[in-house]
Amino acid sequence: REVCWTVFILVVGARDGITAEVISREDFPSDFVFGSGSSAYQVEGAAFDDGRTPSVWDTFAHSGRAWDKSNGDIASDQYHKYKEDVKLMVDTGLEAYRFSISWSRLIPNGRGLVNPKGLQYYNSLINELVNHGIQPHVTLFHYDLPQALEDEYQGWLSRKIVKDFTAYADVCFREFGDRVSHWTTLNEPNVLTLGAYDIGFFPPGRCSSPFGFNCTKGNSTIEPYIATHNILLAHASVARLYRKKYLAKQKGFIGMNIFAYYLVPFANTTEDIRATQRANDFFIGWFMDPLMFGDYPEIVKKNAGSRIPSFTPSQSRQVQGSADFFGLNHYITQYVQDDPDSLNNEPRDFQGDMAIKLASNRIPNGEERRIVYEAKLSCRTGVIPSSMPGLLEYLKQAYDNQPTYIHENGQMAFHNASLNDMSRVKYLESYIESLLQAMRNGSDVRGYFTWSFLNVFEFLTGYETGFGLYYINFNSLDLKRYPKLSAHWYSNFLKGKRSSS
Ligand code: NOJ
Repeated sequence: REVCWTVFILVVGARDGITAEVISREDFPSDFVFGSGSSAYQVEGAAFDDGRTPSVWDTFAHSGRAWDKSNGDIASDQYHKYKEDVKLMVDTGLEAYRFSISWSRLIPNGRGLVNPKGLQYYNSLINELVNHGIQPHVTLFHYDLPQALEDEYQGWLSRKIVKDFTAYADVCFREFGDRVSHWTTLNEPNVLTLGAYDIGFFPPGRCSSPFGFNCTKGNSTIEPYIATHNILLAHASVARLYRKKYLAKQKGFIGMNIFAYYLVPFANTTEDIRATQRANDFFIGWFMDPLMFGDYPEIVKKNAGSRIPSFTPSQSRQVQGSADFFGLNHYITQYVQDDPDSLNNEPRDFQGDMAIKLASNRIPNGEERRIVYEAKLSCRTGVIPSSMPGLLEYLKQAYDNQPTYIHENGQMAFHNASLNDMSRVKYLESYIESLLQAMRNGSDVRGYFTWSFLNVFEFLTGYETGFGLYYINFNSLDLKRYPKLSAHWYSNFLKGKRSSS
């Protein structure tokens, strides 16, 4: 039941004329948006320029934590090349560009004075996009917390973050909100809290789990839950600010974005079916239930017991209804097996509480927990286009069909050097086609963004892998962008060309 597109595609040379077999942009509503994305640390570079201070990712990457020991000091250099990149976006036919703001570029040290150069950069990028008819979809936080706030009070582990994050968002709304109407507060907080506080593969690399990466500090049993609670309160506070102070004039939308597998029972047994529901409650419901219903899912509260903070009635009211839309970063399917034994682990962490195994039968026994979050990086598991309608149908039913954006979808390749990425073309085509099917079945999806527009610095794997539509030789001085076959395909798709027409 698995299809792996990434294997052994023999290619025939880039073909400008490559067109979608069956689908085209015209099959989608005209007010739907198609775009592509990036994030500040992964694409901007200029890490030491113009008053930017380090984020936790600068510190982490400089300690050699990416597989290739690289960092985002220069990355794709979009900071200096944004005009060239916007031109490429226009040529490609993008209708929207999803990017994030570097908090420590805009407000060095996380709090206080605004950096005029940071302001200037984001104003220039946004103007360039808007002047070319490309909608900016802006993420406020894509993992790169100012290091100063981590040092001062441990970032997301402290309730103090709520105030600072709200003040930062206030600057963004005030300065850019006249041209930006789609704001995502946080990118994949469900990966952040696990990566940063349970397994330790994201900065600040805190964990105590035996399955963690070089764990030296932290407490995996409670910190993921504490960070999540603070994240939800911070998101709600930002949404409240926007609605009170900016909405009447700017008429924009505030959402949150989560990483979402499509989860399928490994076997058709009551145990695995229940385990799949539990996994959805832990992965997705952990964030979406509070945002929709004002509280964590029952099973999450039950299994985490006193380790998960409770919402006070006033917190619950603030969090409930604080997202106008949900963003999904969706790449693959995972099969879920019941794992009751993990409930006996002492001390128990978030993953023990979940009591599941992600059961791709190619993952060696005992390694599951460690590679849960690496799995999406591998072609070995779960590239199944029907996962898109499956996931959207689940969300439609569980959360009353909320307005949704596919914020990320795309295919990684280890062989970064190939322009002939036929497998990515197949991936995109089949996922977009299956998205259309989900929309025809009633899912309220408003937009789709490929990940990523350019090859960028990839968290964990550095520059050895690439999701981009455009290739960059990161060893070159000019960091020139080259279109892959997938860029030609996406462009033709967006311009309404089909092979049959
Ligand atoms: C998740 C993240 O949002 C993004 O930063 C990352 O590069 C991609 N997905 C691929 O792993």
